[in-house]
Amino acid sequence: MSEHLPVLITGGAGYIGSHAVHAFVAAGHPVVVLDDLSTGQRDAVPDTVPFVEGNVGDAALVSATIRDHAIAAVVHFAGSVSVPESVADPLKYYRNNSGVSRDLIQSCVDTGVRHFIFSSTAAVYGIPDKVPVLEDAPTVPINPYGTSKLMTEWVLRDTAEAHDFNYVALRYFNVAGADPQGRTGQRSASPTHLIEVAIKTAQGLRAQMEVFGEDFDTPDGTGVRDYIHVADLAEAHVLALRHLHGGGRTATLNLGNQQGFSVREVIEAVQRISGHPIQVKTAPRRAGDPACLVADASTARRLLGWRPQRADLDTQITDAWRWQQSRLTEGT
Ligand code: UFG
Repeated sequence: MSEHLPVLITGGAGYIGSHAVHAFVAAGHPVVVLDDLSTGQRDAVPDTVPFVEGNVGDAALVSATIRDHAIAAVVHFAGSVSVPESVADPLKYYRNNSGVSRDLIQSCVDTGVRHFIFSSTAAVYGIPDKVPVLEDAPTVPINPYGTSKLMTEWVLRDTAEAHDFNYVALRYFNVAGADPQGRTGQRSASPTHLIEVAIKTAQGLRAQMEVFGEDFDTPDGTGVRDYIHVADLAEAHVLALRHLHGGGRTATLNLGNQQGFSVREVIEAVQRISGHPIQVKTAPRRAGDPACLVADASTARRLLGWRPQRADLDTQITDAWRWQQSRLTEGT
């Protein structure tokens, strides 16, 4: 079989998925995107990539797509991503992240697709006892988002035991940045992530922003997170498939840079890079926010040979700033 397996990317019109499309195409894989455009944007997918509009839970559509394009691996990003929304509407998350993922995995088994890469999250750890967090830390999610992703990890684990099927589940820490070539980036309808909110404030699209909690047990009292560039994250998926195709074992891996930055440090970096002041207001802690979440990602480095190229926080913010500025000039 060719080294470049044909790949189905679900959620390929979304933020992380659209970066993965570019990474798999650049690595030489034939790529097909399946996306229901509930949050993704059709124009985030290059015209040269076949696009199927539909839901991963539509077994007939998924099976036909797999057969039509001789798909050998599925990279699964489609799902819902907001922690607060998952608390307000848990059943949406158990459908979009758990239920239809089960159906997609069933379609893979039924059609003989043997390799699966899954977009999981550090939210499966809940509030970790110690940082940096290793993959064998207890998984005790504190919101339906984390639980819904963990359920799919369990479905994968049991399916790989029972069938000729293997997978890599990738637990992302805080994803940031945009395509260094400016082809795609984050386009949230209502941004909640720290860097996107700080950039919108620096752009003058918001009068001020809030810092959620300044009384954490951290050096400056604000929350500490491990930020990873979306292009480095995308590349890890290409390497994960190479690992499986080369006979590597099923694995669950953290993806982060093993370095924490506080909310205050991030806001300062956005001010410095943008050249615009950011009006900040202190607000109470957000429910369910851990003080500090930093990855031990040494297993991904060792097993996949993954070497992040844009680990530096300033690089991540610079790419995100450029992207958001280009959206401003386009008036979108
Ligand atoms: N924060 C602010 N003000 C804001 C937005 C965020 O102070 O306007 C703070 C948060 O309280 C937190 C830090 O900035 O301390 C980062 O918050 P984000 O919302 O950017 O990201 P989270 O760490 O909450 O969530 C991320 C992913 C989730 C994933 C989680 C894993 O977005 O999908 O990491 O814990 F579940």
